[in-house]
Amino acid sequence: MHDEKNRIRQAYNNYAEQRDLAQMEPWKFKERQRFLQSILEEDLNSILELGAGTGRDSLYFQQNRFDVVCVDLSDEMVKLCMEKGLDARRMDFYQLDFEPEQFDSAYAMNSLLHVPKSDIDQVLEQIHRVLKPGGLFFFGVYGGVSSEGVWDKDPYEPQRFFSMYTDEEIVEVAKRWFEVEDFHIEPMEDGTLHFQSLLLRK
Ligand SMILES: C[S@@+](CC[C@H](N)C(=O)[O-])C[C@H]1O[C@@H](n2cnc3c(N)ncnc32)[C@H](O)[C@@H]1O
Repeated sequence: MHDEKNRIRQAYNNYAEQRDLAQMEPWKFKERQRFLQSILEEDLNSILELGAGTGRDSLYFQQNRFDVVCVDLSDEMVKLCMEKGLDARRMDFYQLDFEPEQFDSAYAMNSLLHVPKSDIDQVLEQIHRVLKPGGLFFFGVYGGVSSEGVWDKDPYEPQRFFSMYTDEEIVEVAKRWFEVEDFHIEPMEDGTLHFQSLLLRK
């Protein structure tokens, strides 16, 4: 495993407890609710959450009758997911250890932003492989500018690597693997970045 991944794992191990206690921003409730609505309307049953963190969103989907499997690179995050009664595996989303077409849907909230641009196709290919034909994929990241590297103002220790795309770029990346059903942005307070929300279909 390369150094950046080890740094990411260490950073999230160090901040797992703190993140578990943190409040969720109001716009995230909206995004999650919107995805739930889409998968309910299509009568889907299973979800794979990629980079599930503390398991907050996986628990929400499980409580809304979905069969959920969640994966994360961080042992501490996986532990928190398991404590919530979730089927959680420590797994790198670069190599998903699941059968082809195993899931009806996938959900990645702010986790693919840690993937270097040179690796994003590898990860999207993995997600594409484990989704059923017609399956839905929520892909949410911060962006609006084009950049990548370790964020030198990151309060986390070790500091984390982030990739960001302009709106045009992120849609182009997604289109290499999926059909884009919806793209919209959610403005952030500081005005420089925004949240990019994509609903994709295999
Ligand atoms: C910003 S957090 C988001 C967590 C959660 N989705 C949320 O919205 O709170 C990013 C998560 O992605 C996980 N992650 C980063 N790279 C990963 C990888 N290669 N494989 C699996 N998980 C990864 C991290 O460990 C971390 O828990």
